[in-house]
Amino acid sequence: MPDPGQMYKNIGKTVISEKRIRAKVSQLAEKISQEHQNSEVTLVSNLKGSFRFVSDLASRLTIPVRIDFISFRSYVGTKRKDSKVRIEKDLDLDIHGKDVILVEDIVDTGLTLNHIIRYFEEFKKPRTIKVCALLNKPSRRLVPVQMDYIGFEVPDKFLIGYGLDHEEYFRELNNIAEYKTRQK
Ligand code: PRP
Repeated sequence: MPDPGQMYKNIGKTVISEKRIRAKVSQLAEKISQEHQNSEVTLVSNLKGSFRFVSDLASRLTIPVRIDFISFRSYVGTKRKDSKVRIEKDLDLDIHGKDVILVEDIVDTGLTLNHIIRYFEEFKKPRTIKVCALLNKPSRRLVPVQMDYIGFEVPDKFLIGYGLDHEEYFRELNNIAEYKTRQK
């Protein structure tokens, strides 16, 4: 069982401040709004990590927007080809013929997004699918992923806050910080 009291002592230095996150989210929302003028978008947030990002992003858009949530998790086996995805919650909205933006807090190996995009293309038939990720960790990529809107490129460190968790804690933090793991 995790000891939350101890865990909160392991919050390391801030990697991205609340102010920088706010500025970046506004910038991304402006770009998305400009590129979808006279149109609308459906933001699809993959739970749980992106709940803060999608909320802030949507509130700054200046075009009509629908929001939906999915929960897809990927698991990597001993070999890359062993990777699997589990759909824990599918879409509620119909996205057939719609412009969809998948919203992620972080893209790491790329496996989760890769599965979601393939699944949507095969079964949901949106008009377009774009990806908006607050954080990109390219050093960990196992499969290529098309990224249309990226907030920050981050190093291969254990990050928490603004939706990102460790053992389900720290999602509430307003900044993104390093978590001091014991190995280091
Ligand atoms: C994180 C993140 C992405 C995924 C990215 O989710 O929110 O969905 O991992 O990793 P990948 O590029 O290696 O597939 P996580 O499984 O930690 O669940 P959570 O969002 O509920 O925290």
